[in-house]
Amino acid sequence: MDKFLIQGGHRLNGEVRISGAKNAALPLIAATILANTPITITNVPNLKDVNTLVKLIAGLGITISYDDSQVQADASTLNNQFAPYELVKTMRASILVLGPLLARYGEAKVSLPGGCAIGSRPVDQHLKALEALGASIEVENGYVHAKVDGRLKGGEVIFDMVTVGGTENILMAAVLADGITTIRNAAREPEITDLANMLVKMGALIDGIDTDTLVVTGVENLQGCEYAVVADRIETGSYLAAAAITGGCIRTTHTDPALLESVLEKFEEMGAEVTRGENWIELDMQGKRPKAVSFRTLPHPEFPTDMQAQVMAVNTIARGFSTISETIFENRFMHVPELSRMGANIQVEGNDAVVTGVEKLSAAPVMATDLRASFSLVLAALAAEGETLVDRIYHIDRGYENIEAKLQGIGAKIQRISE
Ligand code: UD1
Repeated sequence: MDKFLIQGGHRLNGEVRISGAKNAALPLIAATILANTPITITNVPNLKDVNTLVKLIAGLGITISYDDSQVQADASTLNNQFAPYELVKTMRASILVLGPLLARYGEAKVSLPGGCAIGSRPVDQHLKALEALGASIEVENGYVHAKVDGRLKGGEVIFDMVTVGGTENILMAAVLADGITTIRNAAREPEITDLANMLVKMGALIDGIDTDTLVVTGVENLQGCEYAVVADRIETGSYLAAAAITGGCIRTTHTDPALLESVLEKFEEMGAEVTRGENWIELDMQGKRPKAVSFRTLPHPEFPTDMQAQVMAVNTIARGFSTISETIFENRFMHVPELSRMGANIQVEGNDAVVTGVEKLSAAPVMATDLRASFSLVLAALAAEGETLVDRIYHIDRGYENIEAKLQGIGAKIQRISE
């Protein structure tokens, strides 16, 4: 298993080119199932999760290639509706093929998902929403088996909680349904807007994009198009956090400040100077120690759960104490014991963590537990005195493109050790 060896204590400075968003690329690739003619998706990050989904799509009989930040897919050859456990188990987002397969093929058999161990993460909302569109669903032996006679029928979907994947799945089903579907309490994450924009380019009729009520008028078929994946707001925030924790100055390019305003405000509250360009963001910590900031994770446009661990890492060396409440996932503090091994002072009670900033972290062997938590350990290692070994970095490879090259480019002393 690969590990990172990181020598901490160096201020990071320079420019990082941000990749396309993993969480947008995955639903866009799932949406290729819906088209009758070829689709080209550009700005696709080179990541393990994307590879997994491409394999899964190829297994459906779709002609698909993935090379040089580009996915080309032709779903006219679709001839199968089976998404096996072997592929789905490593990535929860595989469930995103359920809605489009059902809409296009009338049937889907998809394994229940795996993915990061950050809570129970059921898919009940996805299934309930598809049933509201006329699907009959059975869950048996670890598989979801969904069927519909003819086309799905437009209907009213009201989610019990804001779910990103659930909104994406039902949106992809509704675009080919017969009649109008109203999706209430829809998630408003930028990745949903990206999916809706591509679907519209394919010929879908969607009103209310960017709001919590999406109204979809189903069409009989959709065509291919060319579409570029939106910038990764979480990758952007993660590298800006590297400037904050090391007292450095980093400019992220090929990104969009509008995607992560709630995070940028927290960095400003820490005392960082944040400059927003049209497609870049610069964070200058000016060698200062950040001030502790409290926050609560909530659906977009509030503070994203996917940035919780990274900003917590910055808080561990900040002046003062902070309270962090995780309201999206019930088990997303697994980085806490690892950060504590490096000298962080964090008390957890239920879904709240109180972080008392210490002046310095110290190197220790640590283990990555999930995707974003892993980046928080890398951040802590970059700030710590001494050499930190971060184990199980396959989690990071699922979601951060070229991480060590990008970090080396801004002065980090990081090395991959393969065994
Ligand atoms: C997506 C993101 C993930 C991010 C999360 C929240 C992708 C590929 N992943 O995950 O990085 O952390 O949004 O912003 O885009 N829930 C249910 N029943 C359901 C669906 C969800 O109870 O049927 C719960 C989940 O357990 C969780 C909450 O709702 O507590 C939010 O989950 P959801 O928004 O669906 O997350 P994902 O789409 O899996």
